[in-house]
This record gives sequence, C-alpha cells and structure tokens, in this order.
Amino acid sequence: MQKVAAITGAYGGLGAELSKLLARKGYALVLGGRNAGKLQELIDSLGSTCKAIAVVIDVTNPKDCEKFVNTAVSKFGRLDLLINNAGTWKKTIFEELTPMEIQDMFVTNAFGPMYCSQVAVKIMKKQNSGHILNIGSTAGVDYMTGNVAYGSAKAALIAFTACLGKQLNGTGIKVTAFSPGAFKTEIFKHNPEIYETDFYKNAMLPEFVAKKVMKHIENPKKWHVVLQNKRNSLLAFNTLRSSSK
Ligand SMILES: NC(=O)c1ccc[n+]([C@@H]2O[C@H](COP(=O)([O-])OP(=O)(O)OC[C@H]3O[C@@H](n4cnc5c(N)ncnc54)[C@H](OP(=O)(O)O)[C@@H]3O)[C@@H](O)[C@H]2O)c1
Repeated sequence: MQKVAAITGAYGGLGAELSKLLARKGYALVLGGRNAGKLQELIDSLGSTCKAIAVVIDVTNPKDCEKFVNTAVSKFGRLDLLINNAGTWKKTIFEELTPMEIQDMFVTNAFGPMYCSQVAVKIMKKQNSGHILNIGSTAGVDYMTGNVAYGSAKAALIAFTACLGKQLNGTGIKVTAFSPGAFKTEIFKHNPEIYETDFYKNAMLPEFVAKKVMKHIENPKKWHVVLQNKRNSLLAFNTLRSSSK
C-alpha cells in the first residue's frame, strides 16, 4: 500500500527538501502552502511519477488546516505522516513586539500544528496508525536571547508534542518533534543582515537537515530529536544577543 504524507510549508527550504526525499521514497504527497504558484513549481520539480496534490492553506486558519489534512483521505484514501513544518521567525527585541507580532509567532509556529494535528488524529485513530511530526527548533530548548517569542512558541510546540504523544500512547499513532539548529533558508528574510554573519555562514544546509529528518521518520525511536550544530551554537548566541539589546 502506498504511504501518504501531508506537509505544511512544503515549498520552503526544509519543506521542499523533505518533499523531494518523501517522493523518492514513494510517498503520495499533499503539499500545503500559501502560494499556489510555488506549490505548482514544487510539484513540477518532483517529476511525473510522484502522486502529489497542492492545497493552498494558511496554517493560522483552522478551516484551511481541516481541508488540507482531509485532502489526504479524499485524494489518496489515508494519511500515514503529517509533517507540521510551516514556521516563521523574526529576530526580536521582546519589549518592542506588538501584540499581533507575538500572536503571529504562536499562531503560525504552535497553533497551526495543533489545528492540523486535531484533524490528523481523527483520521489516524480510524487507521490505528500514523505519525505526526512537528518541526521544532533548538530555540525551543536553548532559550536564547533574541528569540523570546519564537523560542517560546517552539517550546510550546515541543510541549504539545510530548502531551499529545502521551495521550495517544497505545493507539498506534506516534507523535514526535525534530528540533534542528540553524540552517540556510529564507526564514531569515525579515532580518537580512543575518545573511552576512558567521552564524549564517556556518549554518547547516537544508538538504543535510532533511536527510536527518528522513532518518528519524524511518525509525522514530525518540519522541524528540535535537540536531545541534555545535560549531554554530556559540555564534548563534552572540549574533542574536548583540542585536537584541
Ligand atoms: N532555518 C532555520 O535555521 C531553522 C532552524 C530551526 C527550525 N526551523 C524550522 O524549520 C521549519 C521550516 O523552516 P525553513 O527554515 O525551511 O523556512 P522557510 O524556507 O521560510 O520555510 C517556511 C515555510 O513555511 C511557510 N509558512 C509560513 N507561515 C505560513 C502560514 N501561516 N501558512 C502556511 N505556510 C506558512 C512559508 O511559506 P511563505 O513563503 O508563504 O511564507 C515557507 O514555505 C520551520 O518550522 C522553522 O521554524 C528552521
């Protein structure tokens, strides 16, 4: 039976690499993102042998999340893997954030995955199987300066992973989180000065991170995997601290 995966933020740096690896492994794919043109470009790049469908979604909208996850069943008959990958980051001086900016960090990085997971759990309970994988961040475990809102939201996502995993123990549904350190993608676009720093230059490549995530998907032994880039964590600390004063 062909496995089916649904991934949010599918055309982003990590999302696109994961989509390519999943396609190569023979998964049918439900690809979610806000930009229809970019989703189509991703589908074209996956080749004609890959069964893939694009669903335009904003993960901050629960109705979009419902439509997105249910597409796995309506198009392909099942859902084996949900990857909550969509995320947003902005370097922040905490006291200068507006309430909307704080909300946006949480709604995109923590609530969106919860909305999608609610729908996935209903489907996976009927199947007695499935895997929900949340893309966290080392910011959710390191508690760095400059990352107050993002780090708090990712910490909430990791806590959600642990709580839901415990609740679903014995159901055949796995709930895990994968938390990487910095890697080179467009996520830093709101703070382009980051691109010139040694922190960014030493960051991992999304292809490398995607391979590690794939390894975890194939053998999800731990509920939470942290992929630290040890060489880079001090640089990250200094870069984010110097710009958050
Ligand atoms: N890059 C890093 O250093 C790093 C480190 C640790 C963890 N992460 C996490 O890794 C995941 C992937 O990030 P990335 O680095 O690959 O960044 P990216 O290239 O910016 O990709 C993020 C994707 O999420 C999508 N997205 C953002 N808000 C959305 C929304 N409301 N609804 C639907 N899609 C939305 C973006 O689409 P748009 O183009 O429409 O915005 C984009 O496709 C994120 O969860 C991020 O927090 C990244």
